[in-house]
Amino acid sequence: MAKYEIRGGTPLTGTVTISGAKNAAVAILPAALLVKGVCRVENVPDIADVRILLDILADMGAVVTRQDDGVVLLDCTNITNLNPNPELVRKMRASYYLMGALLSRFGKAEVALPGGCSFASRPIDQHIKGFRMLGAKVRETEDYVYLETGAGGLQGNRIVLDVVSVGATVNIILAASLLPGQTIIENAAKEPHIVDLANFLNTMGAKISGAGTDTVKIKGVAELHGGSYAIIPDQIEAGTYIAAAAATRGNVLVKNVIPKHMDCITSKLQEMGATITNYDDAIRVQCNERLVSTKVKTRPYPGFPTDMQAQICVCMATAEGVSQLTESVYETRFFGYCSELENMGAKIEINGKTAMVTGKETLKGTTVHARDLRAGAALIIAGLIASGTTYVENIHYVERGYEHIIEKLQALGADIRRIEE
Ligand code: EPU
Repeated sequence: MAKYEIRGGTPLTGTVTISGAKNAAVAILPAALLVKGVCRVENVPDIADVRILLDILADMGAVVTRQDDGVVLLDCTNITNLNPNPELVRKMRASYYLMGALLSRFGKAEVALPGGCSFASRPIDQHIKGFRMLGAKVRETEDYVYLETGAGGLQGNRIVLDVVSVGATVNIILAASLLPGQTIIENAAKEPHIVDLANFLNTMGAKISGAGTDTVKIKGVAELHGGSYAIIPDQIEAGTYIAAAAATRGNVLVKNVIPKHMDCITSKLQEMGATITNYDDAIRVQCNERLVSTKVKTRPYPGFPTDMQAQICVCMATAEGVSQLTESVYETRFFGYCSELENMGAKIEINGKTAMVTGKETLKGTTVHARDLRAGAALIIAGLIASGTTYVENIHYVERGYEHIIEKLQALGADIRRIEE
């Protein structure tokens, strides 16, 4: 087991370059299953979730070539095994996108239920509802989902989602792309990675419009062809470094970002006293003084992302005054890290969906345990602020989604290292 050792107290300074977006990559790579031909995908982050997905696809017969420069070549023309390896599927969340992709291309799928970060109950009823509305016959067991073409065949339909779900929106886009007729998703998620997936598929010949709004239209096409596509920068990775720079009272230029995607995060840090300067594809964050308290409520995009809840909570934990943090996407997400932050001296009172965070002058280093990806990132930021030494355990969660995090933080002056035990 490995862990991170962090000696806190150094403001982050310098430049960090953001990698390709995890949650776009994990949708786009399975989307290559729809394509006959070679997909050249640039800006693919080298993180555990991507490695697992590529292993799953290779095991299914895809020809996968990973280059050093973040480029992946994927040829899914000749898929020979329609049963994704269940052990690999259970190692991550986004493997559920194999369901939509296989259904669209082959009219059937047998996929184990996914694993991944379990900070809340994460139902997939909206994905299943979508598949059924497209004509699939669905059978669910305790650990598997079986999809096949129903008696009336598969075809486009209008699907109104009960909740705004990234996963269901992606899965329905995948499932509908090769079906006859038009599919309309109402109450669709609007996250940047939904737009990225649609742009990828359109580059390969799909006919998807409206991505980024709450109505997405997919006109099914008979076949998709190969092509080249670059994944967008990771909004949450960028937000994590921006929060870390502000919390350590640093001065960091965060490169390779789309500033518009960051507004929901940077506007909050600005309110807390950080100076934010937007450039075309970079953001500078500077902070010379203690942050001040604020009020944040997580919401689907373009609201403040739930995936930044834990990182902003650390900023609040040492800000002056009492902050209010409300979670509206995953109610139980506080339990992944708040008790760990309390062990470091933070004062957090959770009442249902809301945490009241009383800012302390500083935090103190101790051993803490990551229980999910973003919780782990937040504990690293806490360690960077804290006095003394912090050990972050369970770092496999962090390595699921942050490319070269240790090297990037070291380059910003952080005293952090990975220890193998
Ligand atoms: N929901 C349902 N039924 C469904 C699907 C979702 O009730 O069938 C509910 C969920 O319980 C939740 C809400 O809808 O309350 C939103 O869930 P969503 O489906 O949007 O989440 P997801 O697709 O499972 C993705 C990201 C998560 C991120 C959420 C919310 C990927 C692979 N994962 O999850 O990212 O927290 O959207 O933005 O895209 C992370 O990167 O650390 C991460 C957990």
